[in-house]
Amino acid sequence: MPLELPSLPYATDALAPVISEHNLRMHHEGVHAGYLKRLNTLLETDEPTTRSLENIMGTGRGEAQACACQAWNHTFFWQCLTPWYHPPGRVLKEALAARWGSLEAFQEAFMASAMAHFMGGWTWLVYTPQGRLDIHNAADAGSPLLRGFTPLLAVDLWEHAWYVDYGNDRRKYLQKLWGIVNWPFVEQCLEDALATAEGRRNRLHA
Ligand SMILES: [Fe+2]
Repeated sequence: MPLELPSLPYATDALAPVISEHNLRMHHEGVHAGYLKRLNTLLETDEPTTRSLENIMGTGRGEAQACACQAWNHTFFWQCLTPWYHPPGRVLKEALAARWGSLEAFQEAFMASAMAHFMGGWTWLVYTPQGRLDIHNAADAGSPLLRGFTPLLAVDLWEHAWYVDYGNDRRKYLQKLWGIVNWPFVEQCLEDALATAEGRRNRLHA
């Protein structure tokens, strides 16, 4: 079975005006689907049946691994966004405040990291194996999973994510994105990470 493009968790026009329908459709049905199409082509000469994205990310090499990472990253990124905004809950808000001082200070640090990243890639909020929240920039098709991090929030920094709607103003794209971040999803990812045995052993600290 070929790897299939997951549906968006909302309509293609649901994130407008932060992300226009045109941009989101192009991003999902063009870019995201393109990585899976290329990956399926590459896998035709390998094992075309039961391999998961995570398996290919962990054991694959070269272009196949990069395509798998990009497909996984995009699926996660769509879940980090929502047209039904809810502010961060208590667990997440306290964890961010313990690490950065406040939600606003975290957002500033996250944006500074994203703005400092050169060329294509991703900025992530992650939970580290040491039991710490951190901001992690990944170049190109980088994956926090391959570094042992648990991803909590992803922002796509590739130009295809924002250039159509924001021209060369990456900062404006990042600022507007806060209005559609799916904080309940981010918080659930954190709670899942904390619920692991490692998470229980390592109390979250700044
Ligand atoms: Fe993208």
